Amino acid sequence: MAISSEQTRRLLDAARAARAHAHAPYSRFLVGAAVLDDEERIHAGCNVENAAYPLGTCAEAAAIAAMVAAGGKRLRAVLVVGESRELVTPCGGCRQRIREFADAGTPVLVAEGDRVLAQFTLAELLPHAFGPENLAP
Ligand code: THU
Repeated sequence: MAISSEQTRRLLDAARAARAHAHAPYSRFLVGAAVLDDEERIHAGCNVENAAYPLGTCAEAAAIAAMVAAGGKRLRAVLVVGESRELVTPCGGCRQRIREFADAGTPVLVAEGDRVLAQFTLAELLPHAFGPENLAP
């Protein structure tokens, strides 16, 4: 389902604020993410890298964890903000993390600075995805 321009603005502001705190001394690639939950609340996160490189975590993972910790059950929208020559779309692992709490039509917005550059549905980013329903016998 589409989200309003006000919700988009709130997601972007929250993601940018989180990005400002990203801990990315190794890649220097700062990412912020924000999610809108089923109670209209926003949760944000940033990437957190580690000197043991594989232990770094993505901004989307942090935002989703914050939603779950606050009792949110479903993702109504996701926004990622970064700075790159290419769109900063969620990595493959994060597409799967989003899948756990989202529907095929859930919007995933990609922003840079103060602008949303692109919008996808989850199904566009992760077609024929494996999710909780696929576990049913
Ligand atoms: N990163 C994210 O946080 N989200 C994405 O969607 C893409 C990549 C982070 C992981 C790592 O800290 C840095 O960006 C470079 O890959």
